[in-house]
Amino acid sequence: MTKAADFNDRSLSLGLARVSEAAAIACTPLIGRGDEKAADQAAVDAMRTQLNKLNIAGVVVIGEGERDEAPMLFIGEEVGSGTGPGVDIALDPLEGTTLTAKDMPNALAVIAMGPRGSMLHAPDVYMDKLAIGPGYDKGVVTLDMSPSERVHALAKAKGCSTRDITVCVLERPRHEEMIAELRETGAAIRLITDGDVAGVMHCAEPAVTGIDMYMGSGGAPEGVLAAAALKCMGGQIMGRLLFRNDDERGRARKAGITDFDRVYERDDLVTGDVIFAATGVTDGSLVSGIKREVGYVTAETILMRSKTGSVRRMIYRNPVA
Ligand code: FBP
Repeated sequence: MTKAADFNDRSLSLGLARVSEAAAIACTPLIGRGDEKAADQAAVDAMRTQLNKLNIAGVVVIGEGERDEAPMLFIGEEVGSGTGPGVDIALDPLEGTTLTAKDMPNALAVIAMGPRGSMLHAPDVYMDKLAIGPGYDKGVVTLDMSPSERVHALAKAKGCSTRDITVCVLERPRHEEMIAELRETGAAIRLITDGDVAGVMHCAEPAVTGIDMYMGSGGAPEGVLAAAALKCMGGQIMGRLLFRNDDERGRARKAGITDFDRVYERDDLVTGDVIFAATGVTDGSLVSGIKREVGYVTAETILMRSKTGSVRRMIYRNPVA
C-alpha cells in the first residue's frame, strides 16, 4: 500500500502563488469595465484551470457556493491532479467583484491551502468579525466588548490615545450605529465599500496600512480566508456566525456546525498550518494591482506560510498571451 503524500507546504507554496496570479491576471481586461459577473467568471475559470495543474488531491471547503448554485469551484469540488497530498482549499477567485468592476482599491484573488480538516467549513452566512494585528495579549479586545470598549482597550494596550487608533469598517447601513459609537471615542474610521479579507489583513501591518483594528459583519467564508492570512502574518481574529433565517441555520447544520453562538478564534477557524496567496487585482495598501504595458502584464502576490511565518511579496511579469 502506498503512503499518502504529506502536505509539503514549502514546495506547494509557489504553485499556490501561480493559482492566485492566474486568477488576478485573467481579470485584467475587465478591471473598470462595470461588469462584476464577467470579472468573477474570468477569475474562477483561470483559478480552476491553474489549480487543476497542481499535484494535490484537493477539496474545496470554502468556494463559490453550494454545488447547486455554483457550477465551478463549488464546495466539495475535487481539484488538482488527484495525485499528491490530500488538502483542503479555501478560495475566493475575486474578492471584491464590485471593486474590480469600478477599478477601486484592494480587490484581490485569494486562496489558502492546508491539510484535510485544517479549516472551518464556514457556511455562506454573515460573521461578526473583530481583528487586530500582532504584538497584543490574547483577549485584549473581544467580541463581547462594545465597539467603544474595544477602542479604549486597544489604545491602552498600544500606549496611545484613542484618537491614534484607526478602525476599518465595511460601509453598510447595518454598521451605522457602530460607526456612530466609534466616532464618539475619537478614533479614525477607514470605511471600505467591499473586501473585508483585505480589511482584516491590513491590521497585520499597521505601520504600512495605518489600520489597527477591523470590526463588523461580512461573509463568513471571507472570515476563514482572513484567519488563514493572519495565521501567517500574526494577529488575532474572532468571529461569530450570524443567522438571519432558518435557511441560513440549515446551511450551517449541513456544514457540520452545531453550536450557533460559538465565538471562533483564529486557530479555531484555521486549525492546522496553511499556506496563503493573494494577488492584487486593483492597487491596494498591501499589494499593487495588475499593471498593463504594451505586450506585458505584471502582477504582485503576497505568499505566506503559517508554519514559518514567512511573508513573501513576488512580482511576476509575463508577455501577454
Ligand atoms: P464579493 O467580492 O463576492 O462581491 O464580496 C465582497 C464583500 O465585500 C466581502 O469582502 C464581504 O465579506 C462581503 O462582500 C460583505 O457582504 P455584503 O456586501 O452583503 O455586506
